[in-house]
Parts: sequence; structure tokens; C-alpha cells
Amino acid sequence: MVDLTLHDPCQILLSRILRWLWFMVILSRDHKDHFMRRILLAGNWKMHGSPEMVASLLNGLLVASQQECAVDMVVFPPFPYLAQVQALLKDSDISWGAQNLNPAAQGAFTGEVSAAMLLDFACRYVLVGHSERRALFGESDQDVALRFEAAHQAGLIPVLCVGETLAERENGATETVVERQLDAVLQGSGIGAFGRAVIAYEPVWAIGTGKTATPEQAQEVHAFIRNKISSQDGTIGDHIHILYGGSVNGSNAADLFAREDIDGGLVGGASLKAEDFLAIRDAAA
Ligand code: 13P
Repeated sequence: MVDLTLHDPCQILLSRILRWLWFMVILSRDHKDHFMRRILLAGNWKMHGSPEMVASLLNGLLVASQQECAVDMVVFPPFPYLAQVQALLKDSDISWGAQNLNPAAQGAFTGEVSAAMLLDFACRYVLVGHSERRALFGESDQDVALRFEAAHQAGLIPVLCVGETLAERENGATETVVERQLDAVLQGSGIGAFGRAVIAYEPVWAIGTGKTATPEQAQEVHAFIRNKISSQDGTIGDHIHILYGGSVNGSNAADLFAREDIDGGLVGGASLKAEDFLAIRDAAA
């Protein structure tokens, strides 16, 4: 029998140092992972655009995207411009997606678009549950959950939008509302589906109002969302991108994106002109 016990004090010291070094490597890896999420900057064009606008905006972004930058960009045009966007961006690092999808594969759903149709135009992402869809077009938490699941099943990356109204915030219901919106999707698709999804926290009162959540307010809700995801799967919680949306611009982006749990932005108004969108990208880089 070989005696594996260490007797030599030098060997004992060496083994302790090695163990300590190993422990430090593991710790630093976890620590690094935490901050390894690249900034994702998404432009939701909403119902804005024309062929001329698409060409000038994307040509502006394309010139800038040739410079090395630590920020990933994605644009969400209205459906009719997807073919043009695909043609312009197909050889670039900029991704694109759609603003909504219907959960059905096909059928008599006038005005709707399926996941397969979005894939025909090489969409990588799709927004689901934007507050304008919820408020103006009556999408319930259950509708949103079905749309998320359809996107997930098709291999699209759903960007799940959540957020409270001003009245809900003033009533202290922010976390209850955000949790309810997340729970509907978690119950429908399971935590595993969040391994390939993005969450966007967009307080309704900050959208298009020029009133941004303070970095502290946003970070508080982002941490709540990440903790909720992490409580079901720590690895997914560490890796999932949580974007902030609501009046993001070149002046406030740096402070917001510097927060630990804010991994980029979902931008409306300031995504419609290349110079405004790039000012956010440069502030974030
Ligand atoms: P604004 O940046 O115009 O406030 O819009 C935010 C938004 O709704 C992005 O989806």
C-alpha cells in the first residue's frame, strides 16, 4: 500500500498553496462570468420607417460597425422592411428581428405573422410582450407566454418585455407586476427556455416620455429579475441579458449600462437616427 498522507512540511505547504490557487481560479472565473455579458444594444423602430430611412440609418450603422467595439447591435424594423434590412445587414455583425409574432403556425389570422415567416427573413430575435402590445392591443400575460413559446420552439431568441405602469409603481406593486409577467412565461416555457432569451425591463412610465428610470431604480428591478431567474437556474441567471428600456439616449446610457445587472438597452426614439443610436453605443463601449 502506498502511503498518500503528506508528512513533509514543504509538501504540505505546497499542497495548501495549490489548493488556494485553485480556489482563486474558480472564484475569479465566477467573478468574470458575472461581468462577461457583452452589452447588447437593441433598436425598436416601432411603427416608423420608409425605404429611404432604412437605407440611411443602416448605412450609418454599418460604417460604424466596422470598427472593433464591445457592443452588439440588433434592430427591430416593422415587418415590411425585413427584406431590405436582411439584404443590407446580411454580411455584417448587426442582427435583426421583428417586433411581434403570432403563436400559430399558419391560418386565418388576418394581419398576423408567424415565426416561420420571420425565419424566412433570417430574423434572429423577436420582441414579445412589449408594453404597447399589452396596453394598446390587449395582449394578456397568457398571450405573451404563447408568443414566447412559439418563438422559442422556432429557434428565434425572444426578447421578453416586462414593466410596470406609473400607478403600479406608485402603489408599490413594481415587483409584483414584473414577477407576474415573468411567471406566466416561466410556467408556459420553463426556465430552460430562458437559456436562449433576453429580458427587457421597460417601465411604462419611462417609455417615450423623456423620463428615464434612475440607474438605481433600474438596477433594483434588474437585480430582482436576475435573482428570480437565478433562483430557478443559477447558470441561466448569470448569463441572461437583461436590457433596460425607456428614454435611453447618449447622455444617460453610460450610467445605466454601468450597473451590475443592466446588460444594455432597448431603445425606441433614439434608435431611429444612426448618430443617436451610435452615441448610445459609444457611451456604452
Ligand atoms: P423610448 O426609447 O422611445 O422611450 O422607447 C422605449 C421602448 O419602448 C423600446 O422598446
